[in-house]
Amino acid sequence: MRPYIENMIESIAAQDDAAAIAKIIRQRRSINFFKEKVPPRELILQAIDLARWVPNHNLTEPWRFYLLSEQCKKKIVDLNAELVTASKGADAGEAKRKRWSSIPGWIVVTCVRSEEELRAREDYAACCCAVYTICMYLWAHGIGTKWTTGDVTRDARFYDAIWTDPDLETVVALLWYGYPAEVPVTVRKPVSEVLVEV
Ligand SMILES: Cc1cc2nc3c(=O)[nH]c(=O)nc-3n(C[C@H](O)[C@H](O)[C@H](O)COP(=O)(O)O)c2cc1C
Repeated sequence: MRPYIENMIESIAAQDDAAAIAKIIRQRRSINFFKEKVPPRELILQAIDLARWVPNHNLTEPWRFYLLSEQCKKKIVDLNAELVTASKGADAGEAKRKRWSSIPGWIVVTCVRSEEELRAREDYAACCCAVYTICMYLWAHGIGTKWTTGDVTRDARFYDAIWTDPDLETVVALLWYGYPAEVPVTVRKPVSEVLVEV
């Protein structure tokens, strides 16, 4: 094939890729309600593998990914129900237990702690990129996610449940995943409200 035709084909492919990426970014939503079916483990492992390729200052690779077993998930569901019962009453606690029990997939992403403030900040930023990459890859496969950082993720017993020392790592995301039962609608401010040209 002549070079200019090759270049043209590559450029069309790149445009298609860019459009596909833009569509995934715009259409992804945080999912509150999932279908029962559990997505294939292989896809989750692929998403985690991909997440390691996000930008990361000094290549500290600060992320740790935890895939939760049913037993581990139950501990967190129980703990959350207990916390909600204590703050909002037994009915609210039971409602949470029911809803959380029905969530099919659970990942926890943590960030290795650093004593150095700037490094801790940059490592957290890199971990957020990693979480988002998981969300995007799964969304591209029709799998929804929800990133949560509720009170339960700061409880010492949460760290016990995932066999992690809170002095060494901090939870960045409790990430639920599954096939969406419904996809919410949301909005963003116009670009003009957030864009500053200096
Ligand atoms: C760091 C972080 C923490 C979040 N924690 C929660 C949470 O605890 N509970 C919750 O309902 N949503 C949580 N979310 C999801 C946001 O509420 C959601 O992204 C926002 O409503 C925009 O909706 P969208 O993701 O569908 O665009 C979190 C998102 C991020 C990035």
